[in-house]
Amino acid sequence: MLSVRPAITHAAASRLLIPLTTSAVRLAATTATKASSRGLATVADAPKKTYGGLKDQDRIFQNLYGHHGADLKSAMKYGDWHKTKEIIQKGDNWIISEIKKSGLRGRGGAGFPSGLKWSFMNPPGWEKAGVPRYLVVNADEGEPGTCKDREIMRKDPHKLIEGCLVAGRAMNATAAYIYIRGEFYHEATAVQRAIQEAYAAGLIGKNACGSGYDFDVYLHRGMGAYVCGEETSLIESLEGKPGKPRLKPPFPAAVGLFGCPSTVANVETVAVAPTICRRGGEWFDSFGRDRNSGTKLFCISGHVNNPCTVEEEMSIPLRELIDRHCGGVKGGWDNLLAVIPGGSSTPVLPKHICDDVLMDFDALKDAQSGLGTAAVIVMDKSTDIVRAISRLSKFYKHESCGQCTPCREGSKWTYQIMQRFEKGMGRAREIDMLQELTKQVEGHTICALGEAFAWPLQGLIRHFRPELEARMQEFAKISGGEVKAGGWAHNADKKEELISPGQ
Ligand SMILES: Cc1cc2nc3c(=O)[nH]c(=O)nc-3n(C[C@H](O)[C@H](O)[C@H](O)COP(=O)(O)O)c2cc1C
Ligand code: SF4
Repeated sequence: MLSVRPAITHAAASRLLIPLTTSAVRLAATTATKASSRGLATVADAPKKTYGGLKDQDRIFQNLYGHHGADLKSAMKYGDWHKTKEIIQKGDNWIISEIKKSGLRGRGGAGFPSGLKWSFMNPPGWEKAGVPRYLVVNADEGEPGTCKDREIMRKDPHKLIEGCLVAGRAMNATAAYIYIRGEFYHEATAVQRAIQEAYAAGLIGKNACGSGYDFDVYLHRGMGAYVCGEETSLIESLEGKPGKPRLKPPFPAAVGLFGCPSTVANVETVAVAPTICRRGGEWFDSFGRDRNSGTKLFCISGHVNNPCTVEEEMSIPLRELIDRHCGGVKGGWDNLLAVIPGGSSTPVLPKHICDDVLMDFDALKDAQSGLGTAAVIVMDKSTDIVRAISRLSKFYKHESCGQCTPCREGSKWTYQIMQRFEKGMGRAREIDMLQELTKQVEGHTICALGEAFAWPLQGLIRHFRPELEARMQEFAKISGGEVKAGGWAHNADKKEELISPGQ
Protein backbone atom coordinates (compact mmCIF):
# COMPACT_ATOMS: atom_id res chain seq x y z
CA MET A 1 0.00 0.00 0.00
CA LEU A 2 1.33 3.39 -0.96
CA SER A 3 1.29 5.70 1.97
CA VAL A 4 1.04 9.39 1.23
CA ARG A 5 1.72 11.82 4.01
CA PRO A 6 0.28 15.34 4.12
CA ALA A 7 2.69 17.74 2.47
CA ILE A 8 3.22 19.50 5.79
CA THR A 9 2.06 18.55 9.28
CA HIS A 10 0.83 20.97 11.91
CA ALA A 11 3.88 20.36 14.07
CA ALA A 12 6.18 20.94 11.14
CA ALA A 13 4.30 24.09 10.27
CA SER A 14 4.69 25.49 13.75
CA ARG A 15 8.40 24.66 13.65
CA LEU A 16 8.67 26.55 10.39
CA LEU A 17 6.50 29.34 11.80
CA ILE A 18 4.05 28.94 8.93
CA PRO A 19 0.58 30.02 10.03
CA LEU A 20 -1.63 27.07 9.01
CA THR A 21 -5.33 27.67 9.49
CA THR A 22 -7.45 24.91 11.04
CA SER A 23 -9.20 24.39 7.71
CA ALA A 24 -5.88 24.09 5.90
CA VAL A 25 -4.78 21.41 8.38
CA ARG A 26 -8.14 19.66 7.95
CA LEU A 27 -7.77 19.79 4.18
CA ALA A 28 -4.26 18.39 4.29
CA ALA A 29 -5.43 15.57 6.60
CA THR A 30 -8.42 14.74 4.39
CA THR A 31 -6.27 14.70 1.28
CA ALA A 32 -3.85 12.36 3.02
CA THR A 33 -6.64 10.00 4.15
CA LYS A 34 -8.21 9.95 0.68
CA ALA A 35 -4.89 9.33 -1.02
CA SER A 36 -3.72 6.63 1.39
CA SER A 37 -6.95 4.64 1.02
CA ARG A 38 -6.46 4.21 -2.73
CA GLY A 39 -5.29 0.94 -4.19
CA LEU A 40 -2.26 1.24 -6.47
CA ALA A 41 -4.07 -0.07 -9.53
CA THR A 42 -7.00 2.26 -9.12
CA VAL A 43 -5.17 5.52 -8.56
CA ALA A 44 -6.83 8.03 -10.85
CA ASP A 45 -6.81 11.69 -10.10
CA ALA A 46 -10.02 13.52 -10.86
CA PRO A 47 -9.64 15.10 -14.30
CA LYS A 48 -8.35 18.66 -13.96
CA LYS A 49 -11.05 21.06 -15.09
CA THR A 50 -10.00 23.19 -17.98
CA TYR A 51 -11.72 26.34 -19.11
CA GLY A 52 -12.39 27.78 -22.54
CA GLY A 53 -13.67 26.44 -25.83
CA LEU A 54 -17.16 27.87 -25.29
CA LYS A 55 -19.69 26.15 -27.56
CA ASP A 56 -21.83 28.21 -29.92
CA GLN A 57 -25.05 27.18 -28.18
CA ASP A 58 -23.70 28.64 -24.93
CA ARG A 59 -22.93 32.03 -26.41
CA ILE A 60 -25.21 34.77 -25.10
CA PHE A 61 -24.28 37.25 -27.82
CA GLN A 62 -25.36 35.29 -30.86
CA ASN A 63 -25.01 38.24 -33.21
CA LEU A 64 -21.66 39.61 -32.07
CA TYR A 65 -20.27 39.56 -35.60
CA GLY A 66 -23.35 41.09 -37.22
CA HIS A 67 -24.24 38.08 -39.36
CA HIS A 68 -27.90 38.88 -38.79
CA GLY A 69 -29.92 42.04 -38.51
CA ALA A 70 -30.03 44.09 -35.33
CA ASP A 71 -33.79 44.63 -35.76
CA LEU A 72 -36.51 43.26 -33.49
CA LYS A 73 -37.59 40.46 -35.83
CA SER A 74 -34.04 39.10 -36.16
CA ALA A 75 -33.43 39.52 -32.44
CA MET A 76 -36.55 37.50 -31.64
CA LYS A 77 -35.36 34.70 -33.94
CA TYR A 78 -32.29 34.41 -31.73
CA GLY A 79 -34.28 34.22 -28.53
CA ASP A 80 -34.49 37.83 -27.36
CA TRP A 81 -37.77 38.86 -25.74
CA HIS A 82 -38.70 35.21 -25.23
CA LYS A 83 -40.85 34.77 -22.12
CA THR A 84 -39.84 38.24 -20.88
CA LYS A 85 -43.37 38.77 -19.57
CA GLU A 86 -43.06 35.67 -17.34
CA ILE A 87 -39.66 36.84 -16.06
CA ILE A 88 -41.05 40.28 -15.19
CA GLN A 89 -44.06 38.75 -13.47
CA LYS A 90 -41.85 36.57 -11.30
CA GLY A 91 -40.86 39.78 -9.54
CA ASP A 92 -37.83 41.52 -8.09
CA ASN A 93 -36.82 38.89 -5.53
CA TRP A 94 -36.86 36.09 -8.08
CA ILE A 95 -34.74 37.99 -10.60
CA ILE A 96 -32.24 39.06 -7.96
CA SER A 97 -31.98 35.53 -6.59
CA GLU A 98 -31.27 34.16 -10.12
CA ILE A 99 -28.59 36.81 -10.65
CA LYS A 100 -27.07 35.97 -7.27
CA LYS A 101 -27.15 32.26 -8.11
CA SER A 102 -25.45 32.97 -11.44
CA GLY A 103 -22.48 34.54 -9.66
CA LEU A 104 -22.50 37.41 -12.17
CA ARG A 105 -19.95 40.08 -11.27
CA GLY A 106 -20.12 43.56 -12.79
CA ARG A 107 -18.57 43.76 -16.25
CA GLY A 108 -17.72 47.47 -15.94
CA GLY A 109 -14.35 46.81 -14.34
CA ALA A 110 -14.74 46.54 -10.59
CA GLY A 111 -16.29 43.05 -10.60
CA PHE A 112 -18.72 43.69 -7.74
CA PRO A 113 -21.38 40.92 -7.40
CA SER A 114 -24.32 42.22 -9.44
CA GLY A 115 -27.17 40.47 -7.58
CA LEU A 116 -26.00 41.99 -4.31
CA LYS A 117 -25.53 45.43 -5.85
CA TRP A 118 -28.99 45.41 -7.40
CA SER A 119 -30.54 44.30 -4.11
CA PHE A 120 -29.32 47.52 -2.44
CA MET A 121 -32.10 49.27 -4.36
CA ASN A 122 -34.76 47.42 -2.38
CA PRO A 123 -34.14 48.05 1.34
CA PRO A 124 -37.10 47.36 3.64
CA GLY A 125 -39.82 49.96 3.10
CA TRP A 126 -38.48 51.22 -0.25
CA GLU A 127 -42.08 51.37 -1.56
CA LYS A 128 -43.01 54.12 0.91
CA ALA A 129 -40.50 56.65 -0.49
CA GLY A 130 -42.79 57.38 -3.46
CA VAL A 131 -40.00 58.75 -5.66
CA PRO A 132 -38.87 57.67 -9.14
CA ARG A 133 -36.07 55.11 -9.21
CA TYR A 134 -33.57 54.65 -12.00
CA LEU A 135 -31.39 52.09 -13.66
CA VAL A 136 -28.52 53.93 -15.32
CA VAL A 137 -26.73 51.98 -18.01
CA ASN A 138 -23.08 52.83 -18.40
CA ALA A 139 -22.39 52.82 -22.14
CA ASP A 140 -19.45 55.21 -21.94
CA GLU A 141 -16.78 52.58 -22.66
CA GLY A 142 -13.81 54.90 -22.42
CA GLU A 143 -11.14 52.53 -21.10
CA PRO A 144 -8.43 52.26 -23.76
CA GLY A 145 -8.41 48.81 -25.33
CA THR A 146 -12.04 48.11 -24.51
CA CYS A 147 -14.42 47.49 -27.41
CA LYS A 148 -17.17 45.16 -26.24
CA ASP A 149 -20.13 47.34 -25.21
CA ARG A 150 -20.11 49.06 -28.59
CA GLU A 151 -20.36 45.64 -30.30
CA ILE A 152 -23.41 44.77 -28.19
CA MET A 153 -25.08 48.09 -28.97
CA ARG A 154 -24.33 47.93 -32.69
CA LYS A 155 -25.24 44.30 -33.36
CA ASP A 156 -27.37 43.09 -30.43
CA PRO A 157 -29.16 46.22 -29.15
CA HIS A 158 -32.32 44.33 -28.21
CA LYS A 159 -30.34 42.32 -25.66
CA LEU A 160 -29.56 45.62 -23.96
CA ILE A 161 -33.14 46.97 -24.08
CA GLU A 162 -34.56 43.69 -22.78
CA GLY A 163 -31.80 43.71 -20.15
CA CYS A 164 -32.89 47.19 -19.05
CA LEU A 165 -36.40 45.92 -18.46
CA VAL A 166 -35.27 42.81 -16.55
CA ALA A 167 -32.61 44.60 -14.46
CA GLY A 168 -34.98 47.54 -14.00
CA ARG A 169 -37.70 45.19 -12.70
CA ALA A 170 -35.19 43.64 -10.28
CA MET A 171 -34.51 47.10 -8.84
CA ASN A 172 -38.13 48.26 -9.06
CA ALA A 173 -36.92 51.07 -11.29
CA THR A 174 -39.34 53.30 -13.13
CA ALA A 175 -37.02 54.00 -16.04
CA ALA A 176 -33.62 53.29 -17.50
CA TYR A 177 -31.24 55.92 -18.82
CA ILE A 178 -28.62 54.61 -21.20
CA TYR A 179 -25.67 57.02 -21.07
CA ILE A 180 -23.76 56.50 -24.30
CA ARG A 181 -20.39 57.99 -25.30
CA GLY A 182 -20.95 60.86 -27.73
CA GLU A 183 -18.62 59.46 -30.37
CA PHE A 184 -20.71 56.29 -30.64
CA TYR A 185 -22.93 57.69 -33.36
CA HIS A 186 -23.77 54.37 -35.07
CA GLU A 187 -24.27 52.64 -31.76
CA ALA A 188 -26.61 55.40 -30.57
CA THR A 189 -28.59 55.09 -33.81
CA ALA A 190 -28.90 51.31 -33.42
CA VAL A 191 -29.94 51.58 -29.78
CA GLN A 192 -32.46 54.34 -30.48
CA ARG A 193 -33.97 52.26 -33.28
CA ALA A 194 -34.27 49.27 -30.95
CA ILE A 195 -35.93 51.44 -28.28
CA GLN A 196 -38.49 52.66 -30.82
CA GLU A 197 -39.16 49.12 -32.05
CA ALA A 198 -39.61 47.90 -28.48
CA TYR A 199 -42.04 50.74 -27.69
CA ALA A 200 -44.01 50.08 -30.89
CA ALA A 201 -44.29 46.38 -30.05
CA GLY A 202 -45.43 47.14 -26.48
CA LEU A 203 -42.33 45.50 -25.00
CA ILE A 204 -41.43 48.59 -22.97
CA GLY A 205 -43.47 51.61 -21.89
CA LYS A 206 -46.86 51.28 -20.20
CA ASN A 207 -47.68 47.66 -19.30
CA ALA A 208 -44.34 46.45 -20.67
CA CYS A 209 -44.72 43.06 -22.43
CA GLY A 210 -48.27 42.90 -21.03
CA SER A 211 -46.81 42.28 -17.58
CA GLY A 212 -48.59 45.14 -15.84
CA TYR A 213 -45.22 46.82 -15.16
CA ASP A 214 -44.55 50.31 -16.57
CA PHE A 215 -41.01 50.98 -17.66
CA ASP A 216 -39.42 53.62 -19.89
CA VAL A 217 -36.02 53.60 -21.58
CA TYR A 218 -34.18 56.80 -22.58
CA LEU A 219 -30.95 57.23 -24.47
CA HIS A 220 -28.62 60.08 -23.52
CA ARG A 221 -25.50 60.96 -25.50
CA GLY A 222 -22.47 62.11 -23.53
CA MET A 223 -19.52 64.17 -24.71
CA GLY A 224 -16.77 61.59 -24.56
CA ALA A 225 -14.83 62.28 -21.37
CA TYR A 226 -13.20 59.19 -19.85
CA VAL A 227 -14.07 60.26 -16.31
CA CYS A 228 -17.78 60.36 -17.25
CA GLY A 229 -17.63 56.55 -17.21
CA GLU A 230 -17.17 56.74 -13.44
CA GLU A 231 -20.63 56.17 -12.05
CA THR A 232 -21.16 59.35 -10.01
CA SER A 233 -19.53 61.50 -12.66
CA LEU A 234 -21.86 59.91 -15.20
CA ILE A 235 -24.83 60.83 -13.01
CA GLU A 236 -23.62 64.44 -12.76
CA SER A 237 -23.22 64.59 -16.54
CA LEU A 238 -26.67 63.08 -17.06
CA GLU A 239 -28.07 65.81 -14.83
CA GLY A 240 -26.51 68.37 -17.17
CA LYS A 241 -23.56 69.33 -14.96
CA PRO A 242 -19.81 68.99 -15.64
CA GLY A 243 -18.82 65.35 -15.27
CA LYS A 244 -16.97 65.43 -11.95
CA PRO A 245 -17.18 62.45 -9.61
CA ARG A 246 -19.09 62.83 -6.35
CA LEU A 247 -17.84 61.81 -2.94
CA LYS A 248 -19.33 58.54 -1.70
CA PRO A 249 -21.28 58.00 0.54
CA PRO A 250 -24.07 58.66 -0.20
CA PHE A 251 -24.02 55.88 -2.77
CA PRO A 252 -26.26 56.15 -5.84
CA ALA A 253 -28.64 53.48 -4.46
CA ALA A 254 -29.53 56.04 -1.76
CA VAL A 255 -29.01 59.34 -3.59
CA GLY A 256 -28.46 58.91 -7.29
CA LEU A 257 -29.78 60.43 -10.48
CA PHE A 258 -31.87 63.57 -9.79
CA GLY A 259 -31.51 62.72 -6.09
CA CYS A 260 -33.44 59.47 -6.50
CA PRO A 261 -32.36 55.86 -5.79
CA SER A 262 -30.33 54.71 -8.78
CA THR A 263 -27.92 51.99 -9.80
CA VAL A 264 -25.31 52.31 -12.50
CA ALA A 265 -24.54 49.10 -14.38
CA ASN A 266 -22.40 48.28 -17.38
CA VAL A 267 -23.92 47.45 -20.79
CA GLU A 268 -22.63 43.85 -20.77
CA THR A 269 -23.85 43.25 -17.19
CA VAL A 270 -27.34 44.41 -18.10
CA ALA A 271 -27.43 42.65 -21.47
CA VAL A 272 -26.68 39.19 -20.03
CA ALA A 273 -29.45 39.39 -17.40
CA PRO A 274 -32.38 38.15 -19.59
CA THR A 275 -30.47 35.07 -20.79
CA ILE A 276 -29.45 34.27 -17.23
CA CYS A 277 -33.10 34.46 -16.16
CA ARG A 278 -34.23 32.31 -19.11
CA ARG A 279 -31.54 29.64 -18.81
CA GLY A 280 -31.17 29.82 -15.04
CA GLY A 281 -28.53 31.11 -12.68
CA GLU A 282 -26.98 27.64 -12.35
CA TRP A 283 -26.37 27.48 -16.10
CA PHE A 284 -24.34 30.70 -16.04
CA ASP A 285 -22.58 29.61 -12.89
CA SER A 286 -21.46 26.38 -14.56
CA PHE A 287 -18.86 28.34 -16.55
CA GLY A 288 -15.58 29.54 -15.10
CA ARG A 289 -14.00 28.97 -11.72
CA ASP A 290 -15.70 29.43 -8.41
CA ARG A 291 -16.44 33.14 -7.75
CA ASN A 292 -15.57 33.89 -11.38
CA SER A 293 -18.62 32.58 -13.13
CA GLY A 294 -20.03 32.93 -16.55
CA THR A 295 -19.20 33.73 -20.09
CA LYS A 296 -17.43 36.98 -20.85
CA LEU A 297 -16.65 39.23 -23.77
CA PHE A 298 -12.89 39.58 -24.24
CA CYS A 299 -11.48 42.27 -26.54
CA ILE A 300 -8.00 41.39 -27.77
CA SER A 301 -5.93 44.00 -29.55
CA GLY A 302 -2.30 44.78 -30.30
CA HIS A 303 0.32 42.43 -31.68
CA VAL A 304 -1.86 39.45 -32.51
CA ASN A 305 -2.59 38.10 -35.96
CA ASN A 306 -6.33 38.58 -35.71
CA PRO A 307 -7.52 41.14 -33.15
CA CYS A 308 -11.10 40.46 -32.11
CA THR A 309 -13.86 40.67 -29.55
CA VAL A 310 -15.00 37.20 -28.56
CA GLU A 311 -17.31 35.63 -26.01
CA GLU A 312 -15.52 32.92 -24.08
CA GLU A 313 -15.73 31.05 -20.83
CA MET A 314 -14.42 32.94 -17.86
CA SER A 315 -11.11 31.56 -16.52
CA ILE A 316 -9.85 30.60 -19.98
CA PRO A 317 -6.02 30.63 -19.98
CA LEU A 318 -4.71 33.85 -21.54
CA ARG A 319 -2.50 31.92 -23.93
CA GLU A 320 -5.38 29.79 -25.17
CA LEU A 321 -7.55 32.89 -25.65
CA ILE A 322 -4.90 34.44 -27.87
CA ASP A 323 -3.99 31.28 -29.76
CA ARG A 324 -7.53 30.02 -30.32
CA HIS A 325 -9.24 33.27 -31.29
CA CYS A 326 -6.55 35.66 -32.49
CA GLY A 327 -4.30 33.35 -34.48
CA GLY A 328 -1.56 33.78 -31.88
CA VAL A 329 0.95 36.49 -31.12
CA LYS A 330 2.67 38.01 -34.17
CA GLY A 331 5.92 36.10 -34.64
CA GLY A 332 4.82 33.34 -32.25
CA TRP A 333 4.33 33.07 -28.50
CA ASP A 334 8.05 33.41 -27.80
CA ASN A 335 7.93 36.83 -29.42
CA LEU A 336 5.59 38.04 -26.66
CA LEU A 337 6.91 40.80 -24.41
CA ALA A 338 3.95 41.61 -22.19
CA VAL A 339 0.19 41.84 -21.93
CA ILE A 340 -2.10 44.38 -20.32
CA PRO A 341 -4.91 41.99 -19.40
CA GLY A 342 -7.91 44.16 -18.49
CA GLY A 343 -7.82 47.57 -20.13
CA SER A 344 -5.20 50.26 -19.82
CA SER A 345 -5.60 50.81 -16.08
CA THR A 346 -4.59 47.26 -15.14
CA PRO A 347 -0.90 46.55 -14.49
CA VAL A 348 1.10 45.00 -17.30
CA LEU A 349 2.17 41.34 -17.04
CA PRO A 350 5.45 40.04 -18.49
CA LYS A 351 5.52 36.94 -20.70
CA HIS A 352 6.48 34.46 -17.99
CA ILE A 353 3.27 35.26 -16.10
CA CYS A 354 1.19 35.28 -19.30
CA ASP A 355 2.41 31.73 -20.01
CA ASP A 356 -0.16 30.23 -17.68
CA VAL A 357 -2.33 32.92 -16.10
CA LEU A 358 -6.10 32.41 -16.21
CA MET A 359 -8.41 35.17 -17.38
CA ASP A 360 -10.60 35.81 -14.38
CA PHE A 361 -10.95 38.28 -11.53
CA ASP A 362 -9.15 36.24 -8.88
CA ALA A 363 -6.34 34.78 -10.99
CA LEU A 364 -5.39 38.19 -12.34
CA LYS A 365 -5.64 39.76 -8.89
CA ASP A 366 -3.27 37.08 -7.60
CA ALA A 367 -0.93 38.02 -10.45
CA GLN A 368 -1.02 41.63 -9.16
CA SER A 369 -3.10 42.85 -12.08
CA GLY A 370 -6.83 42.71 -12.78
CA LEU A 371 -9.52 41.52 -15.18
CA GLY A 372 -10.95 45.04 -15.43
CA THR A 373 -12.93 45.23 -18.65
CA ALA A 374 -11.19 42.14 -20.11
CA ALA A 375 -9.53 44.27 -22.78
CA VAL A 376 -6.37 42.35 -23.54
CA ILE A 377 -3.59 44.50 -25.05
CA VAL A 378 -0.85 42.30 -26.47
CA MET A 379 2.66 43.68 -26.95
CA ASP A 380 5.38 41.77 -28.75
CA LYS A 381 9.12 42.29 -28.46
CA SER A 382 9.08 45.18 -30.91
CA THR A 383 7.28 47.28 -28.28
CA ASP A 384 8.98 50.07 -26.43
CA ILE A 385 7.32 49.22 -23.13
CA VAL A 386 8.44 52.42 -21.40
CA ARG A 387 6.99 54.53 -24.16
CA ALA A 388 3.78 52.48 -24.19
CA ILE A 389 3.17 53.05 -20.47
CA SER A 390 4.27 56.67 -20.81
CA ARG A 391 1.57 57.14 -23.47
CA LEU A 392 -1.00 55.84 -21.00
CA SER A 393 0.24 58.35 -18.43
CA LYS A 394 -0.43 61.09 -20.96
CA PHE A 395 -3.97 59.81 -21.40
CA TYR A 396 -4.69 59.79 -17.65
CA LYS A 397 -3.16 63.24 -17.18
CA HIS A 398 -5.45 64.53 -19.91
CA GLU A 399 -8.54 62.86 -18.44
CA SER A 400 -8.10 63.86 -14.78
CA CYS A 401 -11.04 66.09 -13.83
CA GLY A 402 -8.77 68.05 -11.50
CA GLN A 403 -10.82 67.87 -8.30
CA CYS A 404 -8.26 65.98 -6.19
CA THR A 405 -4.70 67.24 -5.77
CA PRO A 406 -3.04 63.79 -5.83
CA CYS A 407 -4.69 62.98 -9.15
CA ARG A 408 -4.45 66.41 -10.76
CA GLU A 409 -0.81 67.03 -9.81
CA GLY A 410 0.30 63.41 -9.61
CA SER A 411 -0.88 62.51 -13.10
CA LYS A 412 0.97 65.54 -14.48
CA TRP A 413 4.19 64.79 -12.59
CA THR A 414 4.19 61.13 -13.47
CA TYR A 415 3.71 61.92 -17.14
CA GLN A 416 6.60 64.39 -17.03
CA ILE A 417 8.79 61.83 -15.30
CA MET A 418 7.80 59.18 -17.80
CA GLN A 419 8.65 61.46 -20.72
CA ARG A 420 12.19 61.66 -19.35
CA PHE A 421 12.34 57.94 -18.54
CA GLU A 422 11.42 57.14 -22.12
CA LYS A 423 14.75 58.67 -23.14
CA GLY A 424 16.62 57.30 -20.14
CA MET A 425 16.91 60.74 -18.56
CA GLY A 426 16.79 60.07 -14.86
CA ARG A 427 18.46 58.36 -11.95
CA ALA A 428 17.72 54.90 -10.62
CA ARG A 429 16.59 56.50 -7.34
CA GLU A 430 13.85 58.31 -9.22
CA ILE A 431 12.26 54.99 -10.04
CA ASP A 432 11.63 54.57 -6.32
CA MET A 433 10.34 58.14 -6.16
CA LEU A 434 7.91 57.38 -8.95
CA GLN A 435 6.78 54.24 -7.15
CA GLU A 436 6.33 56.19 -3.91
CA LEU A 437 4.37 58.88 -5.74
CA THR A 438 1.94 56.34 -7.20
CA LYS A 439 1.50 54.77 -3.76
CA GLN A 440 0.63 58.18 -2.30
CA VAL A 441 -2.14 58.58 -4.88
CA GLU A 442 -3.73 55.17 -4.38
CA GLY A 443 -6.75 55.38 -2.09
CA HIS A 444 -6.42 59.14 -1.62
CA THR A 445 -8.71 60.38 -4.37
CA ILE A 446 -12.45 60.79 -4.90
CA CYS A 447 -12.67 58.30 -7.72
CA ALA A 448 -10.63 55.38 -9.02
CA LEU A 449 -8.99 57.39 -11.82
CA GLY A 450 -6.21 57.93 -9.29
CA GLU A 451 -5.57 54.18 -9.18
CA ALA A 452 -6.05 53.95 -12.93
CA PHE A 453 -3.00 56.12 -13.58
CA ALA A 454 -0.96 54.70 -10.71
CA TRP A 455 -1.31 50.99 -11.46
CA PRO A 456 0.19 50.84 -14.97
CA LEU A 457 3.27 52.63 -13.63
CA GLN A 458 3.55 50.23 -10.72
CA GLY A 459 3.29 47.32 -13.15
CA LEU A 460 6.08 48.78 -15.26
CA ILE A 461 8.37 49.24 -12.27
CA ARG A 462 7.53 45.79 -10.86
CA HIS A 463 8.37 43.91 -14.04
CA PHE A 464 10.54 46.16 -16.20
CA ARG A 465 12.76 47.97 -13.74
CA PRO A 466 15.94 46.56 -15.35
CA GLU A 467 14.78 48.04 -18.66
CA LEU A 468 14.35 51.47 -17.05
CA GLU A 469 17.76 51.26 -15.40
CA ALA A 470 19.47 50.06 -18.54
CA ARG A 471 18.05 53.05 -20.41
CA MET A 472 19.38 55.42 -17.78
CA GLN A 473 22.83 53.85 -17.94
CA GLU A 474 22.79 54.05 -21.70
CA PHE A 475 21.73 57.69 -21.71
CA ALA A 476 24.33 58.59 -19.12
CA LYS A 477 27.02 56.98 -21.27
CA ILE A 478 25.93 58.78 -24.43
CA SER A 479 25.49 62.17 -22.79
CA GLY A 480 28.77 61.97 -20.91
CA GLY A 481 27.04 62.04 -17.54
CA GLU A 482 27.98 60.27 -14.36
CA VAL A 483 27.26 56.59 -14.76
CA LYS A 484 28.12 55.78 -11.15
CA ALA A 485 25.32 58.02 -9.90
CA GLY A 486 22.96 55.47 -11.38
CA GLY A 487 21.86 57.49 -14.33
CA TRP A 488 21.68 60.91 -15.79
CA ALA A 489 23.69 63.71 -14.20
CA HIS A 490 25.04 66.30 -16.60
CA ASN A 491 26.46 68.57 -14.01
CA ALA A 492 29.15 66.90 -11.93
CA ASP A 493 28.58 69.38 -9.05
CA LYS A 494 24.93 68.49 -8.87
CA LYS A 495 25.22 64.79 -9.42
CA GLU A 496 23.54 63.87 -6.12
CA GLU A 497 20.59 66.16 -6.76
CA LEU A 498 17.43 64.58 -7.94
CA ILE A 499 15.58 66.12 -10.78
CA SER A 500 12.29 67.39 -9.50
CA PRO A 501 9.16 66.35 -11.36
CA GLY A 502 8.57 68.58 -14.31
CA GLN A 503 12.15 69.78 -14.68
C1 LIG B 1 -12.42 56.71 -14.36
C2 LIG B 1 -13.42 55.61 -14.48
C3 LIG B 1 -13.99 55.32 -15.72
C4 LIG B 1 -14.94 54.31 -15.83
N1 LIG B 1 -15.45 54.04 -17.06
C5 LIG B 1 -16.40 53.08 -17.18
C6 LIG B 1 -17.00 52.82 -18.44
O1 LIG B 1 -16.66 53.43 -19.44
N2 LIG B 1 -17.96 51.86 -18.51
C7 LIG B 1 -18.37 51.17 -17.38
O2 LIG B 1 -19.26 50.33 -17.48
N3 LIG B 1 -17.81 51.40 -16.19
C8 LIG B 1 -16.86 52.34 -16.05
N4 LIG B 1 -16.32 52.59 -14.82
C9 LIG B 1 -16.84 51.84 -13.67
C10 LIG B 1 -18.12 52.49 -13.15
O3 LIG B 1 -17.79 53.47 -12.19
C11 LIG B 1 -19.05 51.48 -12.47
O4 LIG B 1 -18.32 50.78 -11.51
C12 LIG B 1 -19.65 50.48 -13.42
O5 LIG B 1 -20.32 51.11 -14.47
C13 LIG B 1 -20.63 49.61 -12.67
O6 LIG B 1 -21.19 48.65 -13.52
P1 LIG B 1 -21.13 47.09 -13.18
O7 LIG B 1 -21.64 46.92 -11.78
O8 LIG B 1 -22.02 46.48 -14.18
O9 LIG B 1 -19.71 46.70 -13.33
C14 LIG B 1 -15.35 53.59 -14.68
C15 LIG B 1 -14.77 53.87 -13.45
C16 LIG B 1 -13.81 54.87 -13.35
C17 LIG B 1 -13.21 55.16 -12.02
S1 SF4 C 1 -9.37 61.04 -8.87
FE1 SF4 C 1 -8.93 62.42 -10.57
S2 SF4 C 1 -10.63 62.14 -11.96
FE2 SF4 C 1 -11.28 61.25 -10.00
S3 SF4 C 1 -12.31 62.93 -8.97
FE3 SF4 C 1 -10.20 63.06 -8.34
S4 SF4 C 1 -9.24 64.48 -9.78
FE4 SF4 C 1 -11.19 63.84 -10.67
